[in-house]
Amino acid sequence: MNITVLVGSQWGDEGKGKIVDILSERYNIVVRYQGGANAGHTVLIGEKQFILHLIPSGILRENVQCVIGNGVVIDPKALLDEIKFLEENGISSEGRLFISQNAHLIMPYHKLLDSINESSATKIGTTGRGIGPCYIDKYARKGIKIVDLLDRRVLEEKIKINIEEKNNILKKVYNQKELDVNEIIKEYIEFDKLIDKYITDVPTFLNKAIDNEKAILLEGAQGTMLDVDFGTYPFVTSSNPTAGGACTGTGIPPTKISSVFGIVKAYTTRVGLGPFPTELTGEEGDKLRKVGNEFGATTGRPRRCGWFDAFLVNYSRMINGIERAAITKLDVLSYLDEIKVCIGYEINGKRLKSYPNNVNLLERVTPIYETLPGWKVDISNIKYYDDLPSETKDYLSFISQQAGFEISIISVGARRDQTIEL
Ligand code: GDP
Ligand code: IMO
Ligand code: MG
Repeated sequence: MNITVLVGSQWGDEGKGKIVDILSERYNIVVRYQGGANAGHTVLIGEKQFILHLIPSGILRENVQCVIGNGVVIDPKALLDEIKFLEENGISSEGRLFISQNAHLIMPYHKLLDSINESSATKIGTTGRGIGPCYIDKYARKGIKIVDLLDRRVLEEKIKINIEEKNNILKKVYNQKELDVNEIIKEYIEFDKLIDKYITDVPTFLNKAIDNEKAILLEGAQGTMLDVDFGTYPFVTSSNPTAGGACTGTGIPPTKISSVFGIVKAYTTRVGLGPFPTELTGEEGDKLRKVGNEFGATTGRPRRCGWFDAFLVNYSRMINGIERAAITKLDVLSYLDEIKVCIGYEINGKRLKSYPNNVNLLERVTPIYETLPGWKVDISNIKYYDDLPSETKDYLSFISQQAGFEISIISVGARRDQTIEL
């Protein structure tokens, strides 16, 4: 049985897209289990860059089937744009893409409410894709699901009830223009016509595939520290990117998951607001951002950059049960004379015994660093571990020992061939 969950171990953008693309050659099915078009997973094939937001990155391998699970929130426009973009590049989703009937739909008012909240005192620097408000409706049991598209009458009624409520809020609380119900109903009916063929009973589909010994890769979006339960709440996303989310977001039972694979960037980045103990501000941070080309794949925002935080990644290992990991963007560190790695935190001179899963504490910590020598040579064309400089090997073994997992893939560039397997 090979059912692997792939998780981002930091604050997202670890290079999940590239590694899913590499691994998916060995899997029959790739599944997204949470998040939505807030994700931006980049895959570089030759000169062509693909940025996937909703469709699993496995779509770029023609023998792979792709599934969007019930845990995902689907923006119709983003999905159709993506299917079209793939088609324009010779990749057909038909017969290969399966969308859960229980996934929730992002509605125009979700995006509007997301942007209104972002201009308030409780803003967190979201991607503006309507993610939070859509999950709010899901848990308030007001959401509109893919399955509702299949019955016009149900769809119209649900949209009407929701818009009536949202219009009240928009008008009375936020002093905004009301939304046009009929226009939105029309738009979603159109959407149904286009995606009808992809709608699937996903738990049955996946469990049958498991019975038939198919290999399944579950592609997490975002990262552990953005998890609504285990991340830096409230500066998180509204879903569970951690490994547990792979079961609730698909209908695959926990007893069928065979391993959890971590994607770990060789340094740390974060987009949006919230604590970031090892952040480099000023020139040092600017340089790392420039060399690493750290600008958001979804919003284009500059990413905040900092040193590798082994204390954080060790926490991530614990929460997800990561046994093996891919270290990505190692090539980016080649310009540094010395590289710092955070091995713990202290508050008022007292070292913390476990990771503070609480922003009030996290905002007050001082990182404890170990300094390692840099390697100062270009490693981006190295194909074998043995050919890496000794300083690079020392850096890898230090972070793997501190974080508590084995490294099985090293990525030294964005292209497929810039990958070292151990
Ligand atoms: P994801 O959200 O985890 O899939 O990551 P993103 O795609 O948002 O960001 C990762 C960025 O780094 C993309 O631009 C990738 O093309 C690029 N990338 C991935 N792996 C490597 C690597 O090993 N080295 C370098 N230099 N770039 C990489
Ligand atoms: P991938 O899958 C990095 C961040 C946003 C914001 C917070 C909440 O490409 O790694 P949301 O729009 O989800 O309500 O925003 O989460 N965020 C991400 N940061 N990578 C992502 O996805 C992200 N998706 C959301 O910047 O801080
Ligand atoms: Mg990304």
